[in-house]
Amino acid sequence: MTVQPLAAPAAATGSPGQHRIFSGIQPSGIVHLGNDLGAIRNYVALQSHFEAIYCIVDYHALTSTHQADVLRERTRQMAAALLALGLDPDRCTLFVQSHRPEHTELAWLFATVTPVSWVERTPTYKEKAAQQPDDVNHALLTYPILQAADIAIYHADRVPVGKDQAAHLELSREILRAFNRRYGETFVEPLAVYTEAPLVLGTDGRKMSKSIGNTIDILGDPELVRRQVMSMVTDTQRIKRTDPGRPEICNVCQLQRFFGDDYEALWEGERTARTGCVDMKRLLADRITTHYAPARERYRELMAEPAQVDGVLEAGANRLRPQAAATLATVRERMGLR
Ligand code: TRP
Repeated sequence: MTVQPLAAPAAATGSPGQHRIFSGIQPSGIVHLGNDLGAIRNYVALQSHFEAIYCIVDYHALTSTHQADVLRERTRQMAAALLALGLDPDRCTLFVQSHRPEHTELAWLFATVTPVSWVERTPTYKEKAAQQPDDVNHALLTYPILQAADIAIYHADRVPVGKDQAAHLELSREILRAFNRRYGETFVEPLAVYTEAPLVLGTDGRKMSKSIGNTIDILGDPELVRRQVMSMVTDTQRIKRTDPGRPEICNVCQLQRFFGDDYEALWEGERTARTGCVDMKRLLADRITTHYAPARERYRELMAEPAQVDGVLEAGANRLRPQAAATLATVRERMGLR
């Protein structure tokens, strides 16, 4: 897969909106540090320089979440969190996938150009099937086809995602290529823009993930955040306070890099045992709760005022309607549906 850094920000080149960004995020519920460092921060930065469309993918979530009230609540939480963390409805379009049902029609049409073997070999499908062996529903298999439709329906050409999405993006490109080959040049192949944030590890040292339960819930109560940070696994070979640390493998030290400009001094302190693990954790907890204090406040306000969030989401979906309809009209025409 081609990884290409985004061109200079539009402000610098004088042509705003030269790329159209699209990204989808699962309504996983409470937003954690991994979500912010791995995706949301990047969304916020990109909205100022490019035309950006951000989608809360509730159709995709149905492949694993089957309780209506849970899905509804998580969708609202994700929307409120994205707004609280800095997505600005005046600069980007934020919407909920199922509010533009054209995505699913396009996904069906794309399914007809997608060989079964392509979706069966997708690593995420195999992982999911192993994770939920009693619920290997067909939509798990179709998942990447819907993802291709999400991107293509707005002719987005840049897709900011984490590295874990590389296989999906490659498949999206292949599906669009297959469509173009059969029906004529219609879609651009989108490029992945990988977020530079490293894999964000959770409190137990594995990838931070809600399903594992090792998250740092940045918008939660400061006491909760503190407890989560204090429970983090550090350098397991550092037994005594006076043992020199290995900051390069200590997750607590690694995370400091996002919350201050004194990372090198902290690194040195840990390496020479001037600072201990507990000091480092206290500092990190303080910095995280301070950094996210305004977002936490905003999140609380938004959750208390659902109408405000719903209004943003509805406006977003409405704004996209003409583009979705136009793409589908072209595709239907090319495929002989009239
Ligand atoms: N599959 C992505 C994830 O799990 C979410 C997603 C759905 C997406 N549609 C997309 C990402 C389109 C980028 C573009 O994180």
